[in-house]
Amino acid sequence: MRKKLVSGIKPTGTLHLGNYFGALKQFVDLQNEYDSNIFIADFHALTTIQEKEVLEKNIINIATDYLAAGIDPNKVNLFKQSDIPEVTQAAWIFNCITTMPFLMRAHSFKDAEAKDKEINVGVFDYPILMAADILLPSADVVPVGKDQKQHVEITRDIAEKFNRIYGETFKLPKPIILEETETVPGIDGRKMSKSYGNIIPLFATDEEIEKAVMSIRTDSKAPDEPKNPDEVIIYQIHKLILNEEEDKKIRGRYESGIGYKEAKDLLIKDLKSFIKPMREKREYWVNNPQKVKRILKKGAKKAKKEISKKMDEVRNKIGMNL
Ligand code: AMP
Ligand code: TRP
Repeated sequence: MRKKLVSGIKPTGTLHLGNYFGALKQFVDLQNEYDSNIFIADFHALTTIQEKEVLEKNIINIATDYLAAGIDPNKVNLFKQSDIPEVTQAAWIFNCITTMPFLMRAHSFKDAEAKDKEINVGVFDYPILMAADILLPSADVVPVGKDQKQHVEITRDIAEKFNRIYGETFKLPKPIILEETETVPGIDGRKMSKSYGNIIPLFATDEEIEKAVMSIRTDSKAPDEPKNPDEVIIYQIHKLILNEEEDKKIRGRYESGIGYKEAKDLLIKDLKSFIKPMREKREYWVNNPQKVKRILKKGAKKAKKEISKKMDEVRNKIGMNL
Protein backbone atom coordinates (compact mmCIF):
# COMPACT_ATOMS: atom_id res chain seq x y z
CA MET A 1 0.00 0.00 0.00
CA ARG A 2 1.28 3.43 -0.93
CA LYS A 3 1.50 6.09 1.75
CA LYS A 4 -1.10 8.82 1.86
CA LEU A 5 -0.39 12.50 1.19
CA VAL A 6 -2.89 15.24 2.06
CA SER A 7 -2.63 18.99 1.56
CA GLY A 8 -4.63 22.00 0.49
CA ILE A 9 -4.39 25.67 -0.41
CA LYS A 10 -6.94 28.37 0.37
CA PRO A 11 -8.65 29.98 -2.64
CA THR A 12 -7.92 33.51 -1.47
CA GLY A 13 -6.52 34.99 -4.70
CA THR A 14 -3.47 34.86 -6.91
CA LEU A 15 -1.01 32.05 -6.18
CA HIS A 16 2.58 33.19 -5.86
CA LEU A 17 6.10 31.75 -5.93
CA GLY A 18 5.92 31.14 -2.16
CA ASN A 19 2.88 28.89 -2.57
CA TYR A 20 4.55 27.12 -5.44
CA PHE A 21 7.96 26.42 -3.89
CA GLY A 22 6.62 25.93 -0.35
CA ALA A 23 3.74 23.63 -1.26
CA LEU A 24 2.44 23.18 -4.79
CA LYS A 25 5.71 22.00 -6.34
CA GLN A 26 5.94 19.31 -3.68
CA PHE A 27 2.42 18.12 -4.50
CA VAL A 28 3.51 17.69 -8.12
CA ASP A 29 6.89 16.14 -7.33
CA LEU A 30 5.37 13.61 -4.93
CA GLN A 31 2.27 12.62 -6.90
CA ASN A 32 3.88 9.48 -8.34
CA GLU A 33 5.12 8.31 -4.97
CA TYR A 34 2.09 8.91 -2.75
CA ASP A 35 -1.61 8.27 -2.90
CA SER A 36 -2.61 11.96 -2.80
CA ASN A 37 -5.60 14.05 -1.76
CA ILE A 38 -5.05 17.65 -2.86
CA PHE A 39 -7.87 20.06 -2.24
CA ILE A 40 -9.05 23.64 -2.44
CA ALA A 41 -9.57 24.77 1.15
CA ASP A 42 -12.73 26.77 0.50
CA PHE A 43 -14.21 26.29 3.99
CA HIS A 44 -11.00 27.78 5.36
CA ALA A 45 -11.21 30.68 2.90
CA LEU A 46 -14.60 31.65 4.39
CA THR A 47 -12.77 33.08 7.39
CA THR A 48 -11.71 35.96 5.12
CA ILE A 49 -13.82 35.86 1.94
CA GLN A 50 -17.54 36.45 2.26
CA GLU A 51 -18.51 37.46 -1.28
CA LYS A 52 -20.13 34.79 -3.45
CA GLU A 53 -18.67 35.97 -6.78
CA VAL A 54 -15.17 36.34 -5.38
CA LEU A 55 -15.17 32.90 -3.78
CA GLU A 56 -16.53 31.23 -6.93
CA LYS A 57 -13.94 32.91 -9.10
CA ASN A 58 -11.11 32.05 -6.72
CA ILE A 59 -12.13 28.40 -6.52
CA ILE A 60 -12.17 27.87 -10.26
CA ASN A 61 -8.95 29.87 -10.61
CA ILE A 62 -7.05 27.81 -8.09
CA ALA A 63 -8.29 24.56 -9.63
CA THR A 64 -6.93 25.86 -12.93
CA ASP A 65 -3.65 26.79 -11.20
CA TYR A 66 -3.26 23.31 -9.71
CA LEU A 67 -3.69 21.71 -13.13
CA ALA A 68 -1.41 24.22 -14.88
CA ALA A 69 1.30 23.62 -12.29
CA GLY A 70 1.28 19.93 -13.17
CA ILE A 71 -1.12 18.16 -10.81
CA ASP A 72 -2.27 15.09 -12.74
CA PRO A 73 -5.94 14.38 -11.94
CA ASN A 74 -5.44 10.75 -12.97
CA LYS A 75 -2.94 10.31 -10.16
CA VAL A 76 -4.33 12.67 -7.52
CA ASN A 77 -7.77 13.09 -5.95
CA LEU A 78 -8.18 16.78 -6.71
CA PHE A 79 -11.30 18.25 -5.11
CA LYS A 80 -12.79 21.09 -3.20
CA GLN A 81 -13.03 20.75 0.54
CA SER A 82 -16.68 21.79 0.77
CA ASP A 83 -17.68 18.79 -1.37
CA ILE A 84 -16.69 16.65 1.64
CA PRO A 85 -18.92 18.08 4.40
CA GLU A 86 -17.81 15.21 6.68
CA VAL A 87 -14.79 17.34 7.56
CA THR A 88 -17.01 19.88 9.30
CA GLN A 89 -18.67 17.10 11.32
CA ALA A 90 -15.30 15.79 12.40
CA ALA A 91 -14.23 19.35 13.22
CA TRP A 92 -17.17 19.65 15.63
CA ILE A 93 -16.21 16.43 17.33
CA PHE A 94 -12.60 17.62 17.62
CA ASN A 95 -13.87 20.94 19.02
CA CYS A 96 -15.36 19.03 21.90
CA ILE A 97 -12.13 17.30 22.89
CA THR A 98 -9.90 20.39 22.49
CA THR A 99 -9.50 23.10 25.09
CA MET A 100 -9.63 26.84 24.45
CA PRO A 101 -6.21 27.54 26.04
CA PHE A 102 -4.64 24.94 23.76
CA LEU A 103 -6.00 26.61 20.62
CA MET A 104 -5.13 30.06 21.92
CA ARG A 105 -1.48 29.14 21.56
CA ALA A 106 -1.76 28.96 17.75
CA HIS A 107 0.45 31.56 16.02
CA SER A 108 -2.16 32.18 13.33
CA PHE A 109 -4.77 33.03 15.96
CA LYS A 110 -2.40 35.23 17.94
CA ASP A 111 -1.34 37.12 14.81
CA ALA A 112 -4.94 37.62 13.69
CA GLU A 113 -5.97 38.79 17.13
CA ALA A 114 -3.05 41.20 17.36
CA LYS A 115 -4.22 42.80 14.11
CA ASP A 116 -7.95 42.84 14.79
CA LYS A 117 -9.80 42.13 18.02
CA GLU A 118 -13.05 41.38 16.16
CA ILE A 119 -11.88 38.14 14.51
CA ASN A 120 -14.50 35.50 13.73
CA VAL A 121 -14.77 32.14 15.46
CA GLY A 122 -13.64 30.48 12.22
CA VAL A 123 -10.20 32.05 12.56
CA PHE A 124 -9.91 30.64 16.07
CA ASP A 125 -11.20 27.22 15.05
CA TYR A 126 -9.14 27.06 11.85
CA PRO A 127 -6.60 24.44 13.05
CA ILE A 128 -9.40 22.09 14.12
CA LEU A 129 -10.90 22.02 10.64
CA MET A 130 -7.44 21.49 9.26
CA ALA A 131 -7.00 18.53 11.60
CA ALA A 132 -10.20 17.04 10.18
CA ASP A 133 -8.90 17.51 6.61
CA ILE A 134 -5.76 15.63 7.49
CA LEU A 135 -6.97 12.94 9.89
CA LEU A 136 -10.10 11.66 8.12
CA PRO A 137 -8.19 10.46 5.03
CA SER A 138 -5.47 9.00 7.32
CA ALA A 139 -2.64 11.13 5.97
CA ASP A 140 0.92 9.92 6.49
CA VAL A 141 2.47 13.13 5.19
CA VAL A 142 1.39 16.76 4.78
CA PRO A 143 3.61 18.86 2.49
CA VAL A 144 3.37 22.55 3.50
CA GLY A 145 5.41 25.71 3.99
CA LYS A 146 6.90 26.44 7.40
CA ASP A 147 4.00 28.71 8.42
CA GLN A 148 1.77 25.61 8.60
CA LYS A 149 4.11 23.55 10.80
CA GLN A 150 2.29 24.35 14.00
CA HIS A 151 -1.04 23.42 12.46
CA VAL A 152 0.25 19.94 11.68
CA GLU A 153 1.56 19.66 15.25
CA ILE A 154 -1.88 20.63 16.57
CA THR A 155 -3.36 17.98 14.27
CA ARG A 156 -1.10 15.35 15.78
CA ASP A 157 -2.08 16.41 19.30
CA ILE A 158 -5.76 16.15 18.45
CA ALA A 159 -5.24 12.70 16.94
CA GLU A 160 -3.45 11.56 20.07
CA LYS A 161 -6.16 12.93 22.32
CA PHE A 162 -8.93 11.26 20.32
CA ASN A 163 -7.03 7.97 20.30
CA ARG A 164 -6.53 8.22 24.05
CA ILE A 165 -10.22 8.80 24.74
CA TYR A 166 -11.84 6.53 22.17
CA GLY A 167 -9.13 4.01 21.26
CA GLU A 168 -6.72 3.83 18.32
CA THR A 169 -8.44 5.55 15.40
CA PHE A 170 -6.20 8.12 13.72
CA LYS A 171 -2.72 7.93 12.23
CA LEU A 172 -0.26 10.63 13.33
CA PRO A 173 0.73 12.63 10.23
CA LYS A 174 4.15 14.16 9.56
CA PRO A 175 4.69 17.50 7.85
CA ILE A 176 7.03 17.63 4.85
CA ILE A 177 8.74 21.01 4.91
CA LEU A 178 11.68 21.55 2.55
CA GLU A 179 14.40 23.52 4.27
CA GLU A 180 15.49 25.49 1.18
CA THR A 181 11.98 26.71 0.39
CA GLU A 182 10.24 26.65 3.79
CA THR A 183 9.83 30.45 3.73
CA VAL A 184 10.14 32.07 0.33
CA PRO A 185 10.87 35.80 0.68
CA GLY A 186 8.78 38.43 -1.09
CA ILE A 187 10.10 41.48 -2.94
CA ASP A 188 10.51 43.35 0.36
CA GLY A 189 12.38 40.49 2.05
CA ARG A 190 9.54 39.49 4.40
CA LYS A 191 7.74 36.17 3.86
CA MET A 192 6.05 36.28 0.44
CA SER A 193 2.38 36.73 1.22
CA LYS A 194 -0.68 38.23 -0.42
CA SER A 195 -1.43 40.15 2.74
CA TYR A 196 1.97 41.93 2.60
CA GLY A 197 1.53 42.92 -1.06
CA ASN A 198 5.04 41.63 -1.81
CA ILE A 199 4.31 38.74 -4.15
CA ILE A 200 5.53 37.56 -7.53
CA PRO A 201 2.49 35.81 -9.03
CA LEU A 202 3.10 32.21 -10.15
CA PHE A 203 1.44 32.90 -13.49
CA ALA A 204 2.68 36.47 -13.87
CA THR A 205 2.76 38.06 -17.30
CA ASP A 206 6.09 39.36 -18.59
CA GLU A 207 5.08 42.88 -17.57
CA GLU A 208 4.12 41.76 -14.07
CA ILE A 209 7.45 39.95 -13.71
CA GLU A 210 9.35 43.08 -14.74
CA LYS A 211 7.37 45.30 -12.41
CA ALA A 212 7.73 42.96 -9.40
CA VAL A 213 11.44 42.29 -9.89
CA MET A 214 12.22 45.97 -10.43
CA SER A 215 10.60 46.68 -7.04
CA ILE A 216 12.74 44.15 -5.14
CA ARG A 217 14.36 45.94 -2.22
CA THR A 218 18.14 46.45 -2.38
CA ASP A 219 20.75 48.22 -0.25
CA SER A 220 23.03 51.03 -1.40
CA LYS A 221 26.16 49.00 -2.28
CA ALA A 222 27.96 50.19 -5.41
CA PRO A 223 27.64 47.98 -8.53
CA ASP A 224 31.20 46.63 -8.43
CA GLU A 225 31.26 46.07 -4.66
CA PRO A 226 31.48 42.35 -3.67
CA LYS A 227 28.22 41.07 -2.20
CA ASN A 228 27.16 38.11 -0.11
CA PRO A 229 24.43 36.58 -2.34
CA ASP A 230 22.63 35.07 0.65
CA GLU A 231 21.93 38.58 1.93
CA VAL A 232 20.48 39.83 -1.36
CA ILE A 233 16.73 39.35 -1.92
CA ILE A 234 17.19 39.24 -5.72
CA TYR A 235 19.43 36.21 -5.31
CA GLN A 236 17.23 34.54 -2.66
CA ILE A 237 14.41 34.53 -5.20
CA HIS A 238 16.64 33.72 -8.17
CA LYS A 239 18.13 30.60 -6.57
CA LEU A 240 14.66 29.01 -6.47
CA ILE A 241 14.75 28.55 -10.23
CA LEU A 242 18.46 27.86 -10.81
CA ASN A 243 20.08 24.46 -11.23
CA GLU A 244 23.30 23.72 -9.37
CA GLU A 245 25.61 24.83 -12.13
CA GLU A 246 23.73 28.07 -12.84
CA ASP A 247 23.59 28.76 -9.11
CA LYS A 248 27.35 28.45 -8.76
CA LYS A 249 27.88 30.84 -11.63
CA ILE A 250 25.48 33.47 -10.29
CA ARG A 251 26.90 33.25 -6.77
CA GLY A 252 30.32 33.90 -8.26
CA ARG A 253 28.99 37.00 -10.01
CA TYR A 254 27.67 38.40 -6.69
CA GLU A 255 30.89 37.62 -4.89
CA SER A 256 33.02 39.42 -7.46
CA GLY A 257 30.53 42.32 -7.66
CA ILE A 258 27.40 42.55 -9.78
CA GLY A 259 25.21 45.64 -10.00
CA TYR A 260 21.65 45.21 -8.73
CA LYS A 261 20.27 46.40 -12.08
CA GLU A 262 22.07 43.62 -13.94
CA ALA A 263 21.14 41.06 -11.25
CA LYS A 264 17.49 42.05 -11.66
CA ASP A 265 17.69 41.80 -15.46
CA LEU A 266 19.07 38.26 -15.16
CA LEU A 267 16.31 37.31 -12.74
CA ILE A 268 13.65 38.78 -15.05
CA LYS A 269 14.97 36.78 -17.99
CA ASP A 270 15.03 33.50 -16.04
CA LEU A 271 11.65 34.06 -14.40
CA LYS A 272 10.08 34.72 -17.79
CA SER A 273 11.31 31.41 -19.17
CA PHE A 274 10.35 29.59 -15.97
CA ILE A 275 6.80 30.93 -15.89
CA LYS A 276 5.97 30.95 -19.60
CA PRO A 277 5.29 27.21 -20.11
CA MET A 278 3.05 27.08 -17.02
CA ARG A 279 1.18 30.17 -18.13
CA GLU A 280 0.60 28.61 -21.54
CA LYS A 281 -0.60 25.37 -19.98
CA ARG A 282 -2.94 27.42 -17.82
CA GLU A 283 -4.55 28.92 -20.93
CA TYR A 284 -5.80 25.47 -21.91
CA TRP A 285 -7.61 24.99 -18.60
CA VAL A 286 -8.94 28.56 -18.57
CA ASN A 287 -10.63 27.76 -21.85
CA ASN A 288 -12.06 24.47 -20.56
CA PRO A 289 -13.80 25.29 -17.26
CA GLN A 290 -16.29 22.45 -17.70
CA LYS A 291 -13.42 19.95 -17.77
CA VAL A 292 -11.99 21.51 -14.62
CA LYS A 293 -15.34 21.18 -12.84
CA ARG A 294 -15.66 17.54 -13.90
CA ILE A 295 -12.19 16.80 -12.52
CA LEU A 296 -13.13 18.33 -9.15
CA LYS A 297 -16.36 16.32 -9.02
CA LYS A 298 -14.62 13.07 -9.80
CA GLY A 299 -11.88 13.80 -7.26
CA ALA A 300 -14.47 14.55 -4.58
CA LYS A 301 -16.30 11.32 -5.26
CA LYS A 302 -13.15 9.27 -4.76
CA ALA A 303 -12.04 11.18 -1.68
CA LYS A 304 -15.52 10.99 -0.17
CA LYS A 305 -15.52 7.20 -0.30
CA GLU A 306 -12.56 6.76 2.03
CA ILE A 307 -13.47 9.74 4.19
CA SER A 308 -17.06 8.72 4.86
CA LYS A 309 -15.84 5.25 5.81
CA LYS A 310 -13.54 6.81 8.40
CA MET A 311 -16.37 9.07 9.56
CA ASP A 312 -18.53 6.00 10.18
CA GLU A 313 -15.78 4.52 12.31
CA VAL A 314 -15.61 7.79 14.27
CA ARG A 315 -19.39 7.91 14.83
CA ASN A 316 -19.21 4.36 16.03
CA LYS A 317 -16.38 5.06 18.43
CA ILE A 318 -18.02 8.09 20.00
CA GLY A 319 -21.36 6.37 20.48
CA MET A 320 -23.56 7.69 17.69
CA ASN A 321 -24.20 4.55 15.67
CA LEU A 322 -26.95 2.70 17.47
P1 AMP B 1 -2.15 29.59 1.80
O1 AMP B 1 -2.17 30.51 0.64
O2 AMP B 1 -1.96 30.27 3.10
O3 AMP B 1 -3.28 28.61 1.78
O4 AMP B 1 -0.81 28.73 1.64
C1 AMP B 1 -0.73 27.59 0.85
C2 AMP B 1 0.58 26.87 1.05
O5 AMP B 1 1.66 27.68 0.61
C3 AMP B 1 0.88 26.51 2.51
O6 AMP B 1 1.47 25.23 2.55
C4 AMP B 1 1.86 27.56 2.93
O7 AMP B 1 2.72 27.13 3.95
C5 AMP B 1 2.63 27.79 1.64
N1 AMP B 1 3.23 29.12 1.61
C6 AMP B 1 2.58 30.31 1.57
N2 AMP B 1 3.46 31.34 1.53
C7 AMP B 1 4.70 30.79 1.55
C8 AMP B 1 6.04 31.32 1.51
N3 AMP B 1 6.28 32.64 1.43
N4 AMP B 1 7.08 30.44 1.55
C9 AMP B 1 6.88 29.11 1.61
N5 AMP B 1 5.63 28.55 1.64
C10 AMP B 1 4.57 29.36 1.59
N1 TRP C 1 -4.14 26.13 6.38
C1 TRP C 1 -3.52 25.86 5.12
C2 TRP C 1 -2.89 27.17 4.61
O1 TRP C 1 -3.27 28.23 4.97
C3 TRP C 1 -4.50 25.32 4.11
C4 TRP C 1 -5.02 24.00 4.56
C5 TRP C 1 -6.29 23.72 4.98
C6 TRP C 1 -4.29 22.78 4.65
N2 TRP C 1 -6.41 22.40 5.31
C7 TRP C 1 -5.21 21.80 5.13
C8 TRP C 1 -2.98 22.43 4.38
C9 TRP C 1 -4.82 20.47 5.34
C10 TRP C 1 -2.59 21.11 4.59
C11 TRP C 1 -3.50 20.14 5.07
O2 TRP C 1 -2.00 27.10 3.83
